Amino acid sequence: MDKKTFDMRADGASITAIAPLEILDSRGNPTLQVTVRLLSGAVGVAAVPSGASTGKHEAVEWRDGDKKRYGGKGVQESCEKIKGEVSDLLLGQHAGDQLRIDKLLCDLDGSDNKQTLGANTILAVSLAVAHAAANHYAMPLYRYLGGVAANILPVPMMNIINGGMHADNALDIQEFMVMPVGFNKFSEALRAGTEIFHSLKSILKKKSLSTNVGDEGGFAPNLSSAEEALSLMNDAVTAAGYKPGGDIFYALDCASTEFFKDGIYDLVGMKKKMTASQLTDYLAKLCDDFPIISIEDAMAEDDIAGWEILTKKLGNKIQLVGDDLFVTNPKRLQMGIDKNLANALLVKVNQIGSLSETLTAVGLAHRHNYRAVMSHRSGETEDTTIADLAVATNCGQIKTGAPSRGERTAKYNRLLAIENQLGNDAIYAGRTILKK
Ligand code: PGA
Ligand code: ZN
Repeated sequence: MDKKTFDMRADGASITAIAPLEILDSRGNPTLQVTVRLLSGAVGVAAVPSGASTGKHEAVEWRDGDKKRYGGKGVQESCEKIKGEVSDLLLGQHAGDQLRIDKLLCDLDGSDNKQTLGANTILAVSLAVAHAAANHYAMPLYRYLGGVAANILPVPMMNIINGGMHADNALDIQEFMVMPVGFNKFSEALRAGTEIFHSLKSILKKKSLSTNVGDEGGFAPNLSSAEEALSLMNDAVTAAGYKPGGDIFYALDCASTEFFKDGIYDLVGMKKKMTASQLTDYLAKLCDDFPIISIEDAMAEDDIAGWEILTKKLGNKIQLVGDDLFVTNPKRLQMGIDKNLANALLVKVNQIGSLSETLTAVGLAHRHNYRAVMSHRSGETEDTTIADLAVATNCGQIKTGAPSRGERTAKYNRLLAIENQLGNDAIYAGRTILKK
């Protein structure tokens, strides 16, 4: 232990061991799991997710690059860094001082995008420290991080039809989500979304369309237009006994950076090329025809002029979420606030790479009347930290896929457990998320 950095306040919350492990994510790629142990005996475990449609401005993952192992995607070097320099830095530190822990890690890395240690390396430790501290204080993570007022259960944005980079079909838009808004309880909303998922499966079967699921658990039928996908969703909602635009609304994630080429949005599945302005008009028409209340990454990450056009036209009507645009980075978000781009932040812990920076980004969003949506990645593990983060930040919305595949349902199941634990104190965000 480095005596110089030994934190005298740490007491029982002093970090005594940090143990990394290379595990697998839901795509069968290696990822990091870290266990942190405190002097009191409290233990915290966390594992980091990984994206497929990653933004250029995201903090970067450390991958071994040794092609003989996992095609170069191994994380053994991250494990070595954690056992070496990271442990040297953090052993003896107070696990309850998350800000200091994260700052020490960021300073050790020293780069803007965490390329020295890797955002995955830093995040795994950062999250495991928070879990260990919560356990030390005998509090659930949402309460430890969110305090007494953390009582709001998020509206699930359930990605039931997958396209784009997450599926092999011709759908240009990456995600078609149902948002069960008109319910009094999270568990009732989740039930509605799940019943809709099941009725969609029956409809797809009847039409001889594939019911295989994509990376986020949604179906990936061979459709080629958003209209087809949204019409099928209308049918599924109605067949399940709910009302599109009444209790159920829709959300899209265009992930449009993926099809933005040379200043033009090239929608290959639809066989159409569009300017930012044409894409905005197209999306506005979809919002007129279907009960869509939220669109994520409608424009590409660096198409600032496109975002301005989009926000001017749709920003007062629907939620416009910045994912690749903001990459959970307070600096990118501040740029968006200054330029009046979008009106909501997608929150992915591994885009920025530490817990305190994630919470800073959410705080910044809320202070500027931007909504925040907690989110998984397409490559996930059974780690459920984001469910607690959604409640801790009272952000009111969570994206964690379809109610299918264990790594997705793990988050929903954690939210059910939180709702159960909160009892009458649980508040479902529900209709409060609708734009006035
Ligand atoms: P990703 O996709 O995790 O593959 O980046 C999720 C999203 O774009 O929201
Ligand atoms: Zn996205």
